[in-house]
Amino acid sequence: MQNLLVTGGCGFIGANFIRLLFSNTDFDGRIVNVDKLTYAGNPENLTDIEDIYRDRYFFVMADICDPEAIADVFAKYKIDTVCNFAAESHVDRSIVEPDAFIKTNIHGTFILLETAREHRDQLILFHHVSTDEVYGSLGAEGYFTEDTPYKPNSPYSASKASSDHLVRAYSKTYGLPVTISNCSNNYGPYQFPEKLIPLMILNALEEKSLPVYGKGRNIRDWLYVTDHCKAVWRIMQSGRRGETYNIGGRCERANLDTVNMICDLLDDMQPRPDQRSRRELISFVKDRPGHDFRYAIDCSKLENELGWIPEESFESGLRKTIQWYLDNKEWVERVKSGDYLAWVKQHYEHI
Ligand code: NAD
Ligand code: DAU
Repeated sequence: MQNLLVTGGCGFIGANFIRLLFSNTDFDGRIVNVDKLTYAGNPENLTDIEDIYRDRYFFVMADICDPEAIADVFAKYKIDTVCNFAAESHVDRSIVEPDAFIKTNIHGTFILLETAREHRDQLILFHHVSTDEVYGSLGAEGYFTEDTPYKPNSPYSASKASSDHLVRAYSKTYGLPVTISNCSNNYGPYQFPEKLIPLMILNALEEKSLPVYGKGRNIRDWLYVTDHCKAVWRIMQSGRRGETYNIGGRCERANLDTVNMICDLLDDMQPRPDQRSRRELISFVKDRPGHDFRYAIDCSKLENELGWIPEESFESGLRKTIQWYLDNKEWVERVKSGDYLAWVKQHYEHI
């Protein structure tokens, strides 16, 4: 793997993945990051990487749905490996405006697969990053395994399920070398503050209310983002071609417990002037339509076959995450203003 195409590398997990590969693995090739820069993509996440690895890191602002742009990237950079993070990723947005989810997550993946197929002589691997939400919702018992039937409930998860099926089909029909990973909820640095954990951290710091959907009893299985990225890299290096691997933190928490924990950590790390608990900011709001009750991943295939285990505990990961948001107020301001394009135009003369 010398010429790696990472799509969606300016987003939360993609940026952490690129940072990991350069800083903490023996990867010695080039990375081409193709990102359309939606509201969720911020090239500033990789400014230092771009400065340090000028001859090994390349950013291309392009849409994965654009066949010509993707063909150009494959040809120009002699792409031999793909890791597809690019997606519309937020469930609430998919309920309000599903259109972009269908385009990017399904059609975009199709364009990447078709281009990869045209270059299959040079293709070592097409890795597709997906979600546990494709399996639907669990009751109080049981776990998602790689054999759990797909039963997606939101436009987001249905679009991801569809993309997974396409990737699998290209493996079976055309013999494309693929792997797929289905991961549970991530948290950590660089996450856009629409997702539960960064939203709660920033709202609490700004003394805003903390909106918990329903009664806060829905359960998510949390994983620190670097642990996810390490798992993806492990699968890309050693996973069996044509296989799916589940990735999870064995860290189930009811949402209300997670929000309480964030409040308590913040009270410890940056107490309010009057010392009152931030738990008083919690407000219970109308539930999300079709809200999946529980996700819980059985990741024993990944553990047993590839020897991966998560390194971060929920408390240590949350502390790191909170500290990162406390230390990066300018990033938060820029992301909230949504004005990356001014920054991009200033930084990249060719755009
Ligand atoms: P994100 O929303 O933070 O980032 C998505 C990135 O994709 C952004 O940089 C965006 O600009 C880019 N993008 C969107 N549409 C594009 C297009 N048409 N062409 C090129 N680039 C485009 O998402 P994330 O949380 O980093 O998730 C990354 C991947 O991991 C997604 O595929 C998601 O389904 C999957 N995943 C996420 C989680 C999670 O908890 N966040 C868990 C499991 C799986
Ligand atoms: O499971 C993996 C998935 O996790 C990824 O595929 C998705 O890309 C990612 O967005 C995430 O989906 P969720 O819907 O689980 O994440 P979100 O952060 O939106 O919500 C987490 C839980 O918190 C969920 O049960 C809804 C609840 N919630 C969320 C928000 C934003 C609230 O109670 N209040 C909120 O304001």
